[in-house]
Amino acid sequence: MFAPFETQYSASPVRILYASKAYLSPLIAQLMAEQGIGLDVVSGGELLVAQQANFPMDRVSFHGNNKSEEELRLALQLGVGHIVLDNWHELERLTRIAQQTGQHPGVLIRVAPDVDTDTHRYLQTGHATSKFGFPLSNGEAKSAILRILREGTVRLVGLHAHSGTMLRETRPYQECIERLLTLLGEVHHETQWWPEEISPGGGWAVDTPDGISTPSVEILARALQVSMEHGLASIGSRRTPPTLVIEPGRSIIARAGVAIYRVGARKPTPGGITYLFVDGGMADNIRPALYGARYTAFAVNKATAPLQEKVCIAGRYCESGDMLIADVMVPVMHEGDLLVLPTSGAYCLAMASNYNLVPRPAVLLVDEHNVQLMERRETYQDLLSRYQ
Ligand SMILES: Cc1ncc(COP(=O)(O)O)c(C=O)c1O
Repeated sequence: MFAPFETQYSASPVRILYASKAYLSPLIAQLMAEQGIGLDVVSGGELLVAQQANFPMDRVSFHGNNKSEEELRLALQLGVGHIVLDNWHELERLTRIAQQTGQHPGVLIRVAPDVDTDTHRYLQTGHATSKFGFPLSNGEAKSAILRILREGTVRLVGLHAHSGTMLRETRPYQECIERLLTLLGEVHHETQWWPEEISPGGGWAVDTPDGISTPSVEILARALQVSMEHGLASIGSRRTPPTLVIEPGRSIIARAGVAIYRVGARKPTPGGITYLFVDGGMADNIRPALYGARYTAFAVNKATAPLQEKVCIAGRYCESGDMLIADVMVPVMHEGDLLVLPTSGAYCLAMASNYNLVPRPAVLLVDEHNVQLMERRETYQDLLSRYQ
């Protein structure tokens, strides 16, 4: 994600935050730290993983639409860089905590920019009625900014928006930047306030088997260059351009992960569908059931065998909707054979559950030279320890 912005974008400084919600472990946090990337976290748990990895906390931004008092206090105690305020209650909660602790936290206002996106409705976040952010269209975003500036308890460092995920066009990003900069222009002329950061969020897609390809990140970087230059020029301020903060999750981690499943059984049906039952499913990858995400599969131990059979790859969980892939051509597979599903690095294990009280799988970090255990396989003892 870095390189295209280094070569194609020069309207302002740029900073990349990895959206940890896509998948986080201490090793991943360390890899991001080594790359000079920051982290976008959304919970106390993600904050603590970052801390456990010795991640530089000043490079962490804390998001979420309902951060608890405890989580906000933890964030301040750990010294997070910025807190992204999502609604009035959070603003009040953080203001109260800041008054009590005497801290002066740096915050961004998350704006609901009323931007349409061409993605599944569960993946849209920037519309006016979104659960995320202060609405722009009715003036709430501006009121929140003015209130923060007037009260001065928390320090407003920037404006943020995120219009959705699995985005394949630059338009929503450009509209976010245009709307944030128009808002900035109004506030700047009234108050002289100037941000350190502007963020149109994350959300860039990766290719999936539905045949639609995702344009390169260079195209996104060039589009944002145009929008930032144009928007800043229309404000007409001589102040240093705010840093553009991009928050990719999926486009960094999705292709880095593959899921490997073992076939346990096959079941031809009278209707003609042949199921391959695998030892995982919706508890380690909820995406197909939740919003129809598409995957493909390859046979690991029969990689060169002819693709002779159309199968439905179904999970082991007690739901008819637990199907990872509705139909895919594979070699004839039997008990013990292994299937690999590419592009499983994002929003799979990060959304995992213990449905049916099945322990979660292990995760390995692999490169040309090394294999490291990133997450150990959960044990029955891990599950039972909750009840002790
Ligand atoms: C505020 C915010 N930033 C960044 C992301 C990352 O999106 P993606 O993984 O699609 O890049 C999300 C995901 O929903 C988000 O809500």
